[in-house]
Amino acid sequence: MNEIERRRTFAIVSHPDAGKTTLTEKFLLFGGQIQVAGAVKNNKIRKTATSDWMEIEKQRGISVTTSVMEFDYQNYKVNILDTPGHQDFAEDTFRTLTAVDSVIIVIDCAKGVETQTRKLMNVCRMRQTPVIVFVNKMDREGRDPFDLLDEIEQELQIKVRPLSWPINQGIHFKGVYNIYENNLNLFMADKQKIAEKVTVDIHSADLEERVGERDAQKLRDDLELIKEVYPAFDINTYRSAEVAPVFFGSALNNFGIKELLDCFVQIAPPPQEVMAEERTVSPEESKFSGFIFKITANIDPNHRSCIAFCKVCSGRFQRNTPYYHVRLDKSMRFSSPTQFMAQRKSTIDEAYPGDIVGLPDNETFKIGDTLTEGEHLHFRGLPSFSPEMFKYIENADPMRSKQLNKGIDQLMNEGVAQLFVNQFNNRRIIGTVGQLQFEVIQYRLENEYNAKCRWEAASLYKACWIESSDDAELEEFKKRKFQYMAKDREGRDVFLADSGYVLQMAQQDFKHIKFHFTSEF
Ligand code: G4P
Repeated sequence: MNEIERRRTFAIVSHPDAGKTTLTEKFLLFGGQIQVAGAVKNNKIRKTATSDWMEIEKQRGISVTTSVMEFDYQNYKVNILDTPGHQDFAEDTFRTLTAVDSVIIVIDCAKGVETQTRKLMNVCRMRQTPVIVFVNKMDREGRDPFDLLDEIEQELQIKVRPLSWPINQGIHFKGVYNIYENNLNLFMADKQKIAEKVTVDIHSADLEERVGERDAQKLRDDLELIKEVYPAFDINTYRSAEVAPVFFGSALNNFGIKELLDCFVQIAPPPQEVMAEERTVSPEESKFSGFIFKITANIDPNHRSCIAFCKVCSGRFQRNTPYYHVRLDKSMRFSSPTQFMAQRKSTIDEAYPGDIVGLPDNETFKIGDTLTEGEHLHFRGLPSFSPEMFKYIENADPMRSKQLNKGIDQLMNEGVAQLFVNQFNNRRIIGTVGQLQFEVIQYRLENEYNAKCRWEAASLYKACWIESSDDAELEEFKKRKFQYMAKDREGRDVFLADSGYVLQMAQQDFKHIKFHFTSEF
């Protein structure tokens, strides 16, 4: 119970460039995992280098070691799950969110809520994941904090409650007041390491001395206003995902980060119950269960190794113990499970709910697979989202179709993109959320599987999973749309609409058919 209670498994997410990497790095500094900033290399593909293959390889290499960053902080064991910075890998991020118990969303104070922030929040809302918002870059001129709070409330459709408050902004930014603890710590700006702090009583004249008369008065007024406008913070409304606590600061300058981290470990939920298709699984149960939410294959070209990332949901995972692989109906034991510490990984003997275990994998795992001590459990909550871009994939080297098929199969197991097979002409269609994924697939097929592919345009608008309570209508629909019917990898019916208009008409004409935009319904 102790081990479960002290675990905090979460992800930091943001629209690219808002400061996710910088904040993660500062957390690692506080966690003692790294000594100076800059030690964690930018774990994202630079926005300017979308076609730079070296960068993609680098990203993948780094992403294994930084996929999970664990550290002890105070009495807590913190597990940060990394998510790709590039938005073309949004699917990967969504899947990672299924393995966390809470989320910190980073927002740029000048840009406010951006497209990716909105999408990420939708996923959190769908899963009722508790969310903390960190408004970053307060050292730059940005919007008024009260306006930002309104925008967050409206755009992200969640109530907010500030738990820290900035003293001024831009070049006059002087730090943040900790509303949660009711104290003011002034840190010196330091990008490299944790700076000394000075504690100030805000009701004393000391505040005027430190921040000047104008800012002192403004801070006191703002705090009054917050008290009047926002209900007092209640941990239960945060944990039930109704209210998002908001923190302000500057990750780069290390302002407001300790306030955020200290409060986070105290209020963020420990590992939660997980819904399996069969029943709800509680972390306190004595028997081990877990699911695979991420697979990273072929990192080292000389050594065809894959790692499957397993989130422990209940019980205790132990090394060299036989576990039941539900989908394959077979027993497996793992002699070298790993855990991840910033840039290192090491073999572990045991792990508890909330922990992520890296399992060396030899094509035995698919995303969503469940491991148990024998029970037939299937964990839900790993939806595929309707892709936004589609292309036919063709074999460009007839001598190597076996390699191509194997490559496509494995990359789809990893969840790089989605595969649909058109039932009319048997052509394979790859669906992605961004152009970069097509490039990654082509590159990896060549380099890892020695196979060549060619893309052909498929002018499709959306792929939706269909179902109906009216079998006759469903059959009629499939007959009418036979050229646009496909199967996903699980053999489910998918309708490929070639325009928004066509989809709308189909929805109108076939009243009993439900069109789903995620694979789980
Ligand atoms: P991301 O992972 O969310 O994409 O963002 P990242 O942390 O990489 O930050 C994006 C840019 O914003 C970086 O600048 C970073 O230094 C800067 N940044 C992060 N936090 C703050 C902050 O509190 N204040 C200010 N002013 N800037 C901040 P870059 O020029 O893209 O990269 P770099 O060359 O500095 O690494």
